[in-house]
Amino acid sequence: MTHPIPTDGLDGLRWQAEMGVDLALDEGPRDRFAEAAAAETAAVPAAIPLPSSRVDARRPSQAAPSAVQAGEIDPGKATDLDELRAMLEAFDGCGLKATATRLAFADGTPGAPVMFVGEGPGAEEDRQGKPFVGPAGRLLDAMMAEIGLDRTRCYIANVVPWRPPGNRTPTPLEIETCLPFLRRQIALARPRLLVTLGAPAMQGLLGVKTGIMQARGRWVDCAVAPGLTLPALPMLHPAFLLRQPAQKRAAWTDWRTLARALQKLDGA
Ligand code: URA
Repeated sequence: MTHPIPTDGLDGLRWQAEMGVDLALDEGPRDRFAEAAAAETAAVPAAIPLPSSRVDARRPSQAAPSAVQAGEIDPGKATDLDELRAMLEAFDGCGLKATATRLAFADGTPGAPVMFVGEGPGAEEDRQGKPFVGPAGRLLDAMMAEIGLDRTRCYIANVVPWRPPGNRTPTPLEIETCLPFLRRQIALARPRLLVTLGAPAMQGLLGVKTGIMQARGRWVDCAVAPGLTLPALPMLHPAFLLRQPAQKRAAWTDWRTLARALQKLDGA
């Protein structure tokens, strides 16, 4: 379906709301196409070939070093979760921070046997500064309760700790930028098992490139840090289950897989 873009005031606003725009970044409208064209013309001397001027399209390994890469902020040096949170508060290397209201660092209990890793905070998480406190979080709580879990027996974070505007999926670059913090967070929270919720968390943290429907419910190894590898179970995201309740049957199979692994740990 196509959505013609209205150009007059109120209809334009209504159209943006329907497209998922729920946040104003500036006081007035900006023509970013014109700005980008002007910047390219100003910044690129004729002798320099065009591809090297496209900074934003480069992979992180080729991009200008971020604060993390430059060693200004080194999550690996955080000795506890409070220190890591303070590092993230001071970190300006991920653009999502600029549009989010606040950092949604974690919820639950460090040291709990299982850690859930989601995609990124939504509107309610952004308001409260905690992961999974909106509608998807309520379903997560309900599913946890079915296997005897609650937030005292799990720890929860996301692959990006700031809300992507309009709840869009975080980009691979945003995920990669935040990954050193998440890896350190896992190491400091010390879970025995990891569960990723949804495809972006699975692909970003576990590097699994197949689709979530194929990969869900099967344990894979997650290399968290040198000397620390944890079993990880990709699962369907609760927000997806809210949209597609017919998939709950498949989800329950995976939750039972998790319950069995937790029982084994308890018995060990
Ligand atoms: N969805 C997520 O992936 N994470 C949250 O914290 C909330 C919704």
